[in-house]
Amino acid sequence: MTIQITQSKKNSLSRRQFLQLAWLGSLTILGAQTLAALWRFIQPVSASGFGGVVRAGKVTDFAPGSVTAIKAGRFYLYRLDDGSFLALWQKCTHLGCTVPYVEGEKQFHCPCHGSIFDKTGVLVGGPAPRPLDLFPITIRGGEVFVDTGSPIQRERFDPKQTTRA
Ligand code: FES
Repeated sequence: MTIQITQSKKNSLSRRQFLQLAWLGSLTILGAQTLAALWRFIQPVSASGFGGVVRAGKVTDFAPGSVTAIKAGRFYLYRLDDGSFLALWQKCTHLGCTVPYVEGEKQFHCPCHGSIFDKTGVLVGGPAPRPLDLFPITIRGGEVFVDTGSPIQRERFDPKQTTRA
């Protein structure tokens, strides 16, 4: 008789523990789903591709003087020697070819009809009618965001076109 009571208590405790664990497990899953939904909600900026706002990376990822191709956004991020940034659309302003950056020349050379642009995107030679277009940059929380939905045409380089970190 005594043994049966002990076993019954053990079973009762196990059931209680099981229910507690099931309850905690449910709360944990619910919490994780809520956090995942919130994470997705606050991350749309970084998930955007060309045509939206693209997160290029941390400010510290880009050394002064460097030109970095950001493929997802179809632009080059040029960090000037003073630490400011320019986002240059890779699209040639002549007939729209993608313009590669030639590190050895420190210039952009269009393979289609030979237009050449300097690191700020200003036309050095060739048939293109104007410099490479720019995209607006926002620096937030130490990260660089580029709005690839709002290209800016220009006639020349002006330091006011840069964005400071
Ligand atoms: S498309 Fe670049 S020079 Fe013609």
